[in-house]
Amino acid sequence: MENLKKRATFASKIGVVAAAAGSAIGLGNIWRFPSQTADSGGAIFILVYIGCILFFGIPLMVSEFLVGRASRANTAGAYHKLAPGTQWKWVGRLGVLTGFVIMGFYMVVCGWTLVYFFQSLSGHLSGVTDFTANFTALQDNHVKQIGWMIVFTFLTTFFILSGVKKGIERSAKILMPLLFLLLVILAIRAITLDGAVEGLNFLFKPDLAHVKPTVFLDAMGQSFFSLSIGMGCMVTYGSYFNDKTPLVKTSVQVSVLDTLVAVLAGMVIFPAAFALTANHGTIVDSLVAGGPGLLFITLPELFNQMPGSMIWSALFFCLLALAALTSTISLMEVVTVYIHEEYRIPRRSSTLLVAVGVIVLGVISSFSPSFFNFLDVSSAKFMLPIGGFFISLFVGWRLDRQLVYAQLTNEGALKFGVGFLKTYIFLLRYVAPIAILAIFIYGLAA
Ligand code: TRP
Repeated sequence: MENLKKRATFASKIGVVAAAAGSAIGLGNIWRFPSQTADSGGAIFILVYIGCILFFGIPLMVSEFLVGRASRANTAGAYHKLAPGTQWKWVGRLGVLTGFVIMGFYMVVCGWTLVYFFQSLSGHLSGVTDFTANFTALQDNHVKQIGWMIVFTFLTTFFILSGVKKGIERSAKILMPLLFLLLVILAIRAITLDGAVEGLNFLFKPDLAHVKPTVFLDAMGQSFFSLSIGMGCMVTYGSYFNDKTPLVKTSVQVSVLDTLVAVLAGMVIFPAAFALTANHGTIVDSLVAGGPGLLFITLPELFNQMPGSMIWSALFFCLLALAALTSTISLMEVVTVYIHEEYRIPRRSSTLLVAVGVIVLGVISSFSPSFFNFLDVSSAKFMLPIGGFFISLFVGWRLDRQLVYAQLTNEGALKFGVGFLKTYIFLLRYVAPIAILAIFIYGLAA
Protein backbone atom coordinates (compact mmCIF):
# COMPACT_ATOMS: atom_id res chain seq x y z
CA MET A 1 0.00 0.00 0.00
CA GLU A 2 3.09 2.14 0.04
CA ASN A 3 2.41 3.69 -3.34
CA LEU A 4 -1.11 4.64 -2.33
CA LYS A 5 0.17 6.80 0.49
CA LYS A 6 2.27 8.60 -2.01
CA ARG A 7 -0.71 9.53 -4.15
CA ALA A 8 -0.81 13.22 -4.69
CA THR A 9 -3.74 15.30 -3.56
CA PHE A 10 -4.82 18.59 -5.04
CA ALA A 11 -3.54 21.38 -2.91
CA SER A 12 -6.05 24.18 -3.17
CA LYS A 13 -9.80 24.20 -3.56
CA ILE A 14 -9.63 26.09 -6.80
CA GLY A 15 -7.14 23.48 -7.99
CA VAL A 16 -9.78 20.80 -7.58
CA VAL A 17 -12.38 22.60 -9.62
CA ALA A 18 -9.79 23.68 -12.17
CA ALA A 19 -8.51 20.16 -12.76
CA ALA A 20 -11.96 18.61 -13.06
CA ALA A 21 -13.22 21.50 -15.19
CA GLY A 22 -10.06 21.22 -17.27
CA SER A 23 -10.96 17.62 -17.98
CA ALA A 24 -14.58 18.42 -18.76
CA ILE A 25 -14.06 21.51 -20.89
CA GLY A 26 -12.46 20.63 -24.16
CA LEU A 27 -13.21 19.80 -27.75
CA GLY A 28 -16.41 18.16 -26.55
CA ASN A 29 -17.85 21.58 -25.76
CA ILE A 30 -16.50 23.63 -28.61
CA TRP A 31 -16.19 21.15 -31.43
CA ARG A 32 -18.54 18.22 -30.71
CA PHE A 33 -21.44 20.04 -29.05
CA PRO A 34 -22.15 22.33 -32.02
CA SER A 35 -21.98 19.55 -34.58
CA GLN A 36 -24.26 17.33 -32.47
CA THR A 37 -26.65 20.24 -32.02
CA ALA A 38 -26.71 20.81 -35.77
CA ASP A 39 -27.22 17.14 -36.42
CA SER A 40 -30.08 16.79 -33.95
CA GLY A 41 -32.06 19.87 -34.83
CA GLY A 42 -31.02 22.67 -32.48
CA ALA A 43 -33.03 23.88 -29.52
CA ILE A 44 -34.74 20.61 -28.66
CA PHE A 45 -31.38 18.90 -28.50
CA ILE A 46 -30.17 21.54 -26.06
CA LEU A 47 -33.23 21.14 -23.84
CA VAL A 48 -32.78 17.39 -23.66
CA TYR A 49 -29.07 17.90 -23.08
CA ILE A 50 -29.67 20.14 -20.09
CA GLY A 51 -32.18 17.63 -18.72
CA CYS A 52 -29.52 14.91 -18.98
CA ILE A 53 -26.99 17.06 -17.10
CA LEU A 54 -29.46 17.67 -14.26
CA PHE A 55 -30.95 14.22 -13.91
CA PHE A 56 -27.92 12.05 -14.38
CA GLY A 57 -24.90 14.10 -15.32
CA ILE A 58 -24.44 15.78 -11.96
CA PRO A 59 -25.44 12.77 -9.80
CA LEU A 60 -23.07 10.57 -11.81
CA MET A 61 -20.21 12.99 -11.48
CA VAL A 62 -20.74 13.06 -7.73
CA SER A 63 -20.76 9.25 -7.79
CA GLU A 64 -17.50 9.03 -9.67
CA PHE A 65 -15.82 11.48 -7.31
CA LEU A 66 -17.17 9.49 -4.41
CA VAL A 67 -15.91 6.14 -5.68
CA GLY A 68 -12.50 7.68 -6.33
CA ARG A 69 -12.12 9.35 -2.98
CA ALA A 70 -13.50 6.42 -0.99
CA SER A 71 -11.00 4.05 -2.61
CA ARG A 72 -8.08 6.32 -3.42
CA ALA A 73 -7.29 4.03 -6.30
CA ASN A 74 -7.35 3.97 -10.08
CA THR A 75 -10.64 3.30 -11.74
CA ALA A 76 -10.36 -0.51 -11.84
CA GLY A 77 -8.60 -0.75 -8.48
CA ALA A 78 -11.42 1.29 -6.97
CA TYR A 79 -13.87 -1.54 -7.58
CA HIS A 80 -11.40 -4.12 -6.27
CA LYS A 81 -11.19 -2.18 -3.07
CA LEU A 82 -14.82 -1.25 -2.55
CA ALA A 83 -16.24 -4.57 -3.75
CA PRO A 84 -13.45 -7.13 -3.43
CA GLY A 85 -13.82 -10.42 -5.21
CA THR A 86 -16.72 -9.29 -7.38
CA GLN A 87 -17.12 -8.69 -11.07
CA TRP A 88 -17.51 -4.93 -10.57
CA LYS A 89 -13.92 -4.54 -11.65
CA TRP A 90 -15.15 -4.95 -15.22
CA VAL A 91 -16.78 -1.54 -14.99
CA GLY A 92 -13.35 -0.09 -14.36
CA ARG A 93 -11.85 -2.08 -17.19
CA LEU A 94 -14.59 -0.97 -19.56
CA GLY A 95 -13.68 2.59 -18.61
CA VAL A 96 -10.05 2.05 -19.49
CA LEU A 97 -11.04 0.66 -22.87
CA THR A 98 -13.37 3.62 -23.40
CA GLY A 99 -10.48 5.96 -22.71
CA PHE A 100 -8.52 4.34 -25.52
CA VAL A 101 -11.43 4.53 -27.92
CA ILE A 102 -12.02 8.23 -27.17
CA MET A 103 -8.38 9.15 -27.56
CA GLY A 104 -8.32 7.26 -30.85
CA PHE A 105 -10.35 9.96 -32.55
CA TYR A 106 -9.99 12.88 -30.12
CA MET A 107 -6.24 13.18 -30.78
CA VAL A 108 -6.94 13.59 -34.48
CA VAL A 109 -9.12 16.62 -33.76
CA CYS A 110 -6.44 17.91 -31.38
CA GLY A 111 -4.05 17.70 -34.32
CA TRP A 112 -6.46 19.79 -36.40
CA THR A 113 -6.43 22.53 -33.77
CA LEU A 114 -2.63 22.67 -33.98
CA VAL A 115 -2.74 22.82 -37.77
CA TYR A 116 -5.24 25.68 -37.61
CA PHE A 117 -3.14 27.44 -35.00
CA PHE A 118 -0.12 27.41 -37.30
CA GLN A 119 -2.24 28.28 -40.33
CA SER A 120 -3.39 31.33 -38.39
CA LEU A 121 0.12 32.32 -37.40
CA SER A 122 1.47 31.98 -40.91
CA GLY A 123 -1.32 34.13 -42.30
CA HIS A 124 -2.53 31.27 -44.49
CA LEU A 125 -5.96 31.21 -42.88
CA SER A 126 -6.66 34.91 -43.50
CA GLY A 127 -6.10 34.34 -47.22
CA VAL A 128 -8.45 31.38 -47.60
CA THR A 129 -11.67 31.98 -49.49
CA ASP A 130 -13.17 28.51 -49.48
CA PHE A 131 -13.03 27.21 -45.92
CA THR A 132 -14.74 23.96 -46.71
CA ALA A 133 -12.05 23.19 -49.26
CA ASN A 134 -9.39 24.20 -46.73
CA PHE A 135 -10.75 21.71 -44.23
CA THR A 136 -11.20 18.94 -46.78
CA ALA A 137 -7.63 19.46 -47.94
CA LEU A 138 -6.46 18.83 -44.38
CA GLN A 139 -8.55 15.69 -44.09
CA ASP A 140 -7.07 14.41 -47.33
CA ASN A 141 -3.51 15.19 -46.27
CA HIS A 142 -2.85 12.13 -44.16
CA VAL A 143 0.79 12.83 -43.50
CA LYS A 144 0.04 16.25 -42.05
CA GLN A 145 -2.95 15.05 -40.12
CA ILE A 146 -1.13 12.09 -38.63
CA GLY A 147 1.98 14.10 -37.92
CA TRP A 148 0.13 16.65 -35.81
CA MET A 149 -1.93 13.95 -34.12
CA ILE A 150 1.35 12.32 -33.05
CA VAL A 151 2.72 15.66 -31.88
CA PHE A 152 -0.34 16.16 -29.70
CA THR A 153 -0.15 12.64 -28.29
CA PHE A 154 3.47 13.14 -27.27
CA LEU A 155 2.67 16.55 -25.86
CA THR A 156 0.12 14.86 -23.62
CA THR A 157 2.62 12.15 -22.73
CA PHE A 158 5.17 14.79 -21.82
CA PHE A 159 2.80 16.45 -19.37
CA ILE A 160 1.80 13.11 -17.86
CA LEU A 161 5.41 12.15 -17.29
CA SER A 162 6.87 15.41 -16.11
CA GLY A 163 5.85 17.29 -13.02
CA VAL A 164 4.91 20.14 -15.32
CA LYS A 165 1.37 18.83 -15.16
CA LYS A 166 0.81 20.97 -12.12
CA GLY A 167 2.11 23.88 -14.15
CA ILE A 168 -0.50 23.27 -16.80
CA GLU A 169 -3.24 23.10 -14.21
CA ARG A 170 -2.08 26.36 -12.75
CA SER A 171 -1.85 28.09 -16.12
CA ALA A 172 -5.21 26.66 -17.13
CA LYS A 173 -6.73 28.70 -14.32
CA ILE A 174 -5.70 31.84 -16.18
CA LEU A 175 -6.04 30.61 -19.74
CA MET A 176 -9.48 29.02 -19.48
CA PRO A 177 -11.15 32.23 -18.31
CA LEU A 178 -9.38 33.86 -21.23
CA LEU A 179 -10.89 31.30 -23.60
CA PHE A 180 -14.25 32.06 -22.05
CA LEU A 181 -13.78 35.79 -22.58
CA LEU A 182 -12.74 35.22 -26.15
CA LEU A 183 -15.87 33.14 -26.77
CA VAL A 184 -17.96 36.00 -25.38
CA ILE A 185 -16.31 38.45 -27.76
CA LEU A 186 -16.78 36.08 -30.69
CA ALA A 187 -20.42 35.51 -29.76
CA ILE A 188 -21.02 39.26 -29.76
CA ARG A 189 -19.36 39.59 -33.16
CA ALA A 190 -21.33 36.66 -34.55
CA ILE A 191 -24.67 37.82 -33.18
CA THR A 192 -24.28 41.31 -34.59
CA LEU A 193 -23.79 39.98 -38.14
CA ASP A 194 -26.64 40.43 -40.60
CA GLY A 195 -28.85 37.38 -40.59
CA ALA A 196 -27.51 36.02 -37.32
CA VAL A 197 -30.96 35.94 -35.74
CA GLU A 198 -31.87 32.82 -37.64
CA GLY A 199 -28.91 31.09 -36.07
CA LEU A 200 -30.09 32.10 -32.61
CA ASN A 201 -33.56 30.86 -33.44
CA PHE A 202 -32.16 27.54 -34.53
CA LEU A 203 -30.33 27.32 -31.21
CA PHE A 204 -33.01 28.51 -28.81
CA LYS A 205 -36.40 28.15 -30.48
CA PRO A 206 -37.58 24.56 -30.41
CA ASP A 207 -38.72 23.47 -33.84
CA LEU A 208 -40.29 20.05 -34.09
CA ALA A 209 -39.62 19.97 -37.81
CA HIS A 210 -35.93 19.41 -37.23
CA VAL A 211 -36.16 16.92 -34.43
CA LYS A 212 -34.88 13.39 -34.84
CA PRO A 213 -35.90 10.31 -32.85
CA THR A 214 -32.26 9.81 -31.91
CA VAL A 215 -32.16 13.16 -30.14
CA PHE A 216 -32.32 11.55 -26.68
CA LEU A 217 -29.42 9.20 -27.22
CA ASP A 218 -27.42 11.92 -28.96
CA ALA A 219 -27.98 14.38 -26.12
CA MET A 220 -27.29 11.82 -23.42
CA GLY A 221 -24.09 10.70 -25.11
CA GLN A 222 -22.98 14.28 -25.52
CA SER A 223 -23.68 15.07 -21.87
CA PHE A 224 -21.53 12.13 -20.72
CA PHE A 225 -18.81 13.01 -23.16
CA SER A 226 -18.74 16.65 -22.23
CA LEU A 227 -18.74 16.08 -18.48
CA SER A 228 -16.06 13.37 -18.76
CA ILE A 229 -18.25 10.85 -17.01
CA GLY A 230 -18.95 7.18 -17.64
CA MET A 231 -15.38 5.96 -17.94
CA GLY A 232 -13.86 6.64 -14.55
CA CYS A 233 -12.03 9.80 -15.44
CA MET A 234 -13.66 11.55 -12.50
CA VAL A 235 -12.98 8.47 -10.35
CA THR A 236 -9.30 9.02 -10.94
CA TYR A 237 -9.61 12.73 -10.21
CA GLY A 238 -11.73 12.04 -7.15
CA SER A 239 -8.98 9.77 -5.86
CA TYR A 240 -6.74 12.84 -5.67
CA PHE A 241 -9.26 14.94 -3.74
CA ASN A 242 -8.63 15.61 -0.06
CA ASP A 243 -11.12 15.00 2.73
CA LYS A 244 -12.43 18.55 2.64
CA THR A 245 -13.32 18.70 -1.04
CA PRO A 246 -17.10 19.17 -1.28
CA LEU A 247 -18.15 16.59 -3.86
CA VAL A 248 -21.62 17.88 -4.66
CA LYS A 249 -20.60 21.51 -4.89
CA THR A 250 -17.62 20.68 -7.09
CA SER A 251 -19.79 18.64 -9.45
CA VAL A 252 -22.32 21.42 -9.75
CA GLN A 253 -19.63 24.01 -10.40
CA VAL A 254 -17.91 21.91 -13.04
CA SER A 255 -21.19 21.08 -14.77
CA VAL A 256 -22.33 24.68 -14.84
CA LEU A 257 -19.04 25.89 -16.26
CA ASP A 258 -19.00 23.10 -18.81
CA THR A 259 -22.53 23.79 -19.99
CA LEU A 260 -21.90 27.53 -20.20
CA VAL A 261 -18.91 26.99 -22.46
CA ALA A 262 -20.86 24.62 -24.71
CA VAL A 263 -23.84 26.95 -25.09
CA LEU A 264 -21.51 29.88 -25.65
CA ALA A 265 -19.73 27.95 -28.40
CA GLY A 266 -23.14 27.38 -29.98
CA MET A 267 -23.85 31.11 -29.77
CA VAL A 268 -20.71 31.73 -31.77
CA ILE A 269 -21.06 29.04 -34.38
CA PHE A 270 -24.75 29.07 -35.30
CA PRO A 271 -25.24 32.82 -35.74
CA ALA A 272 -22.01 32.85 -37.75
CA ALA A 273 -22.99 29.86 -39.85
CA PHE A 274 -26.42 31.27 -40.65
CA ALA A 275 -25.15 34.77 -41.35
CA LEU A 276 -22.18 33.77 -43.44
CA THR A 277 -23.67 30.98 -45.51
CA ALA A 278 -25.08 32.30 -48.73
CA ASN A 279 -27.80 29.77 -49.31
CA HIS A 280 -30.19 29.93 -46.36
CA GLY A 281 -32.63 27.46 -47.83
CA THR A 282 -30.27 24.55 -47.33
CA ILE A 283 -28.52 25.85 -44.26
CA VAL A 284 -29.62 23.11 -41.92
CA ASP A 285 -28.57 20.46 -44.41
CA SER A 286 -25.21 22.02 -44.89
CA LEU A 287 -24.73 22.41 -41.15
CA VAL A 288 -25.31 18.72 -40.79
CA ALA A 289 -23.13 17.93 -43.76
CA GLY A 290 -20.45 20.04 -42.10
CA GLY A 291 -20.20 17.22 -39.57
CA PRO A 292 -16.88 17.17 -37.80
CA GLY A 293 -15.72 20.13 -39.85
CA LEU A 294 -18.33 22.61 -38.62
CA LEU A 295 -16.05 24.40 -36.17
CA PHE A 296 -13.09 24.43 -38.52
CA ILE A 297 -15.12 25.80 -41.40
CA THR A 298 -17.38 28.34 -39.73
CA LEU A 299 -14.99 29.93 -37.27
CA PRO A 300 -12.22 30.96 -39.65
CA GLU A 301 -14.96 32.48 -41.77
CA LEU A 302 -16.07 34.49 -38.74
CA PHE A 303 -12.51 35.59 -37.93
CA ASN A 304 -12.22 36.96 -41.45
CA GLN A 305 -15.09 39.30 -40.61
CA MET A 306 -13.04 40.84 -37.84
CA PRO A 307 -10.20 43.32 -37.98
CA GLY A 308 -6.93 41.58 -37.15
CA SER A 309 -8.37 38.18 -38.07
CA MET A 310 -4.99 36.53 -37.78
CA ILE A 311 -4.57 37.46 -34.12
CA TRP A 312 -8.07 36.37 -33.16
CA SER A 313 -7.77 33.04 -34.85
CA ALA A 314 -4.26 32.32 -33.55
CA LEU A 315 -5.38 33.15 -30.02
CA PHE A 316 -8.51 31.07 -30.35
CA PHE A 317 -6.86 27.93 -31.70
CA CYS A 318 -4.05 28.21 -29.17
CA LEU A 319 -6.51 28.36 -26.26
CA LEU A 320 -8.59 25.59 -27.82
CA ALA A 321 -5.51 23.38 -28.06
CA LEU A 322 -4.81 24.05 -24.37
CA ALA A 323 -8.38 23.23 -23.39
CA ALA A 324 -8.04 20.03 -25.37
CA LEU A 325 -4.72 19.28 -23.69
CA THR A 326 -6.16 19.40 -20.18
CA SER A 327 -8.78 16.91 -21.43
CA THR A 328 -6.35 14.53 -23.13
CA ILE A 329 -4.17 14.61 -20.00
CA SER A 330 -7.16 13.40 -17.97
CA LEU A 331 -7.98 10.67 -20.47
CA MET A 332 -4.45 9.43 -20.74
CA GLU A 333 -3.94 9.63 -16.99
CA VAL A 334 -6.79 7.16 -16.39
CA VAL A 335 -5.42 4.58 -18.76
CA THR A 336 -1.80 5.06 -17.69
CA VAL A 337 -2.45 4.88 -13.96
CA TYR A 338 -4.53 1.77 -14.51
CA ILE A 339 -1.74 -0.03 -16.35
CA HIS A 340 0.84 1.28 -13.91
CA GLU A 341 -1.00 0.28 -10.74
CA GLU A 342 -2.69 -2.92 -11.87
CA TYR A 343 0.15 -4.49 -13.83
CA ARG A 344 2.98 -2.87 -11.89
CA ILE A 345 4.54 -1.60 -15.08
CA PRO A 346 6.71 1.47 -14.46
CA ARG A 347 4.94 4.74 -15.08
CA ARG A 348 7.15 5.73 -17.96
CA SER A 349 6.68 2.47 -19.86
CA SER A 350 2.96 2.40 -19.30
CA THR A 351 2.65 5.94 -20.62
CA LEU A 352 4.59 5.03 -23.74
CA LEU A 353 2.51 1.91 -24.20
CA VAL A 354 -0.67 3.97 -24.07
CA ALA A 355 0.75 6.55 -26.45
CA VAL A 356 1.59 3.89 -29.03
CA GLY A 357 -1.89 2.39 -28.77
CA VAL A 358 -3.49 5.79 -29.20
CA ILE A 359 -1.32 6.59 -32.20
CA VAL A 360 -2.27 3.34 -33.91
CA LEU A 361 -5.98 4.12 -33.50
CA GLY A 362 -5.34 7.74 -34.55
CA VAL A 363 -3.63 6.65 -37.76
CA ILE A 364 -6.58 4.45 -38.70
CA SER A 365 -9.01 7.28 -37.85
CA SER A 366 -7.05 9.66 -40.05
CA PHE A 367 -7.33 7.39 -43.05
CA SER A 368 -10.89 6.36 -42.49
CA PRO A 369 -13.61 8.85 -41.58
CA SER A 370 -15.92 5.92 -40.99
CA PHE A 371 -13.54 4.45 -38.41
CA PHE A 372 -13.26 7.91 -36.82
CA ASN A 373 -17.01 8.03 -36.69
CA PHE A 374 -17.23 4.48 -35.36
CA LEU A 375 -14.95 5.36 -32.43
CA ASP A 376 -16.90 8.55 -31.76
CA VAL A 377 -20.29 6.84 -31.82
CA SER A 378 -19.27 3.73 -29.93
CA SER A 379 -17.69 5.72 -27.11
CA ALA A 380 -20.24 8.50 -26.68
CA LYS A 381 -23.42 6.58 -27.43
CA PHE A 382 -22.53 3.11 -26.16
CA MET A 383 -19.58 2.82 -23.84
CA LEU A 384 -20.05 5.96 -21.74
CA PRO A 385 -23.78 5.38 -21.13
CA ILE A 386 -23.10 1.73 -20.25
CA GLY A 387 -20.36 2.85 -17.86
CA GLY A 388 -22.68 5.45 -16.34
CA PHE A 389 -25.43 2.87 -15.97
CA PHE A 390 -23.18 0.59 -13.93
CA ILE A 391 -21.71 3.39 -11.84
CA SER A 392 -25.18 4.48 -10.82
CA LEU A 393 -26.06 0.90 -9.88
CA PHE A 394 -22.80 0.51 -7.98
CA VAL A 395 -23.24 3.59 -5.85
CA GLY A 396 -27.01 3.28 -5.59
CA TRP A 397 -27.26 -0.42 -4.72
CA ARG A 398 -23.92 -1.93 -3.91
CA LEU A 399 -22.09 0.62 -1.78
CA ASP A 400 -22.89 0.88 1.88
CA ARG A 401 -25.32 3.74 2.47
CA GLN A 402 -23.31 5.03 5.44
CA LEU A 403 -20.19 5.25 3.31
CA VAL A 404 -22.04 7.16 0.62
CA TYR A 405 -23.46 9.64 3.13
CA ALA A 406 -20.07 10.06 4.79
CA GLN A 407 -18.52 10.89 1.45
CA LEU A 408 -21.23 13.32 0.44
CA THR A 409 -21.13 15.18 3.74
CA ASN A 410 -17.37 14.85 4.32
CA GLU A 411 -18.01 12.81 7.46
CA GLY A 412 -20.79 15.09 8.61
CA ALA A 413 -18.89 18.36 8.19
CA LEU A 414 -21.27 19.49 5.44
CA LYS A 415 -24.92 19.72 6.30
CA PHE A 416 -27.35 18.26 3.82
CA GLY A 417 -30.98 17.60 4.58
CA VAL A 418 -32.07 13.98 4.75
CA GLY A 419 -34.36 14.73 1.82
CA PHE A 420 -31.39 15.73 -0.29
CA LEU A 421 -29.46 12.56 0.47
CA LYS A 422 -32.52 10.41 -0.17
CA THR A 423 -33.16 12.17 -3.48
CA TYR A 424 -29.60 11.54 -4.53
CA ILE A 425 -29.90 7.83 -3.77
CA PHE A 426 -33.27 7.70 -5.50
CA LEU A 427 -31.81 9.28 -8.64
CA LEU A 428 -29.00 6.74 -8.67
CA ARG A 429 -31.10 3.71 -7.81
CA TYR A 430 -33.99 4.27 -10.15
CA VAL A 431 -34.04 7.40 -12.27
CA ALA A 432 -30.57 7.28 -13.80
CA PRO A 433 -30.36 3.57 -14.62
CA ILE A 434 -33.92 3.31 -15.94
CA ALA A 435 -33.63 6.50 -17.99
CA ILE A 436 -30.25 5.52 -19.39
CA LEU A 437 -31.53 2.09 -20.34
CA ALA A 438 -34.72 3.47 -21.87
CA ILE A 439 -32.90 6.11 -23.89
CA PHE A 440 -30.36 3.55 -24.98
CA ILE A 441 -32.93 1.05 -26.23
CA TYR A 442 -35.09 3.74 -27.80
CA GLY A 443 -32.05 5.27 -29.50
CA LEU A 444 -30.97 1.94 -30.93
CA ALA A 445 -34.44 1.15 -32.19
CA ALA A 446 -34.90 4.59 -33.75
N1 TRP B 1 -14.92 16.04 -21.59
C1 TRP B 1 -13.87 16.26 -22.53
C2 TRP B 1 -14.38 17.22 -23.59
O1 TRP B 1 -15.49 17.64 -23.53
C3 TRP B 1 -13.34 14.99 -23.12
C4 TRP B 1 -13.01 14.00 -22.07
C5 TRP B 1 -11.97 14.05 -21.21
C6 TRP B 1 -13.78 12.86 -21.74
N2 TRP B 1 -12.04 13.00 -20.35
C7 TRP B 1 -13.13 12.26 -20.66
C8 TRP B 1 -14.93 12.32 -22.25
C9 TRP B 1 -13.68 11.12 -20.07
C10 TRP B 1 -15.46 11.17 -21.68
C11 TRP B 1 -14.86 10.59 -20.58
O2 TRP B 1 -13.69 17.53 -24.50
